[in-house]
Amino acid sequence: EDGDYIKLCEEYNCLIETIPKGNGWRVKHLHNYNGFWLNPIYIKANLLLHAYFKPHPTDIFLASFMKSGTTWLKALMISTINRHRYSFSDHHLHYHGPQSTFPFLETELHSYPITDFTDMSAPRLFSTHFPRTLLPPSVTSCKFIYICRDPKDVLVSKWFFMNKIRDKDLPPLSFDEALDLFCQGISDFGPIWEHVLSYWRASLDAPDKILFLKYEEVKEQPEAMVRKLAAFMGEPFTKEEDEKRVVENIVNMCSFENLSNLEVNKTGVFKFGKAEVGNREFFRKGKIGDWQNYMTEEMKERIDGIIHEKLKGSGLTL
Ligand code: A3P
Repeated sequence: EDGDYIKLCEEYNCLIETIPKGNGWRVKHLHNYNGFWLNPIYIKANLLLHAYFKPHPTDIFLASFMKSGTTWLKALMISTINRHRYSFSDHHLHYHGPQSTFPFLETELHSYPITDFTDMSAPRLFSTHFPRTLLPPSVTSCKFIYICRDPKDVLVSKWFFMNKIRDKDLPPLSFDEALDLFCQGISDFGPIWEHVLSYWRASLDAPDKILFLKYEEVKEQPEAMVRKLAAFMGEPFTKEEDEKRVVENIVNMCSFENLSNLEVNKTGVFKFGKAEVGNREFFRKGKIGDWQNYMTEEMKERIDGIIHEKLKGSGLTL
């Protein structure tokens, strides 16, 4: 097996030398791997994923393009699935940043041998930023929850976040440059439209396996969305739970206001691979339409035009 790993490393080194390069947001360069712009460490992670990760049919994945609501959905999923385990007065989320409540596939795949996750009980929850088309075919039997968001809000959120974690030896990324790269599709796990479409198409093919959500819908109807989540994950809320207002408790527990004010999210850190980031960086404003504070009408038209064009005929609007 180590021989296979050596081959994998050779394949990786060869790829990095030969595939197209573009300007990076966090690191100097992103590389275009099978149509998606990835940080090189995630290209290696993807090779490891295909070679060694063994999905179970009961696994549930949260998939998202960065900055689309991953933190929020992680909190909602973990508190929904564990609602019999924790009380709302003394909850797991009081002591753990949502990001660390269940593993990010790609950041667990930094080294060989990979984490085997055998100590996790079913259903195992994972999150990933990989597009559907970069996942191994063996995940077809697993369930996926996908969250997407207005690309303009994603861009603003991502620009702030990436500047926070950007390599210190690189100059700051200006908003104009970020917007330009974003519109060319060059941003981690981008193009955003291909990412969203990869899950949208898969959800049309297998609606029982992929629940497709929008950040804006969760904001507008959080209780209805939590009910959807619970039913999709196989445990709809019961009458008794409704009498105890469990859904309302979950929504309140996971609200931006509540989570962002917890000590663990003000001062705790989230470790991913060798890097770490303050939990507080995952809570900025949590609003719909903050892009209006950063974009001119012309910038808005540019992004909307591209997204409209790319999604045309798909049945999806963002
Ligand atoms: P903003 O930067 O627009 O505020 P991700 O979790 O995918 O990295 O996305 C981060 C975005 O989700 C940030 O958006 C963050 O503020 C917002 N967010 C985090 N927790 C949230 C919550 N509980 N409710 C609503 N939005 C939340």
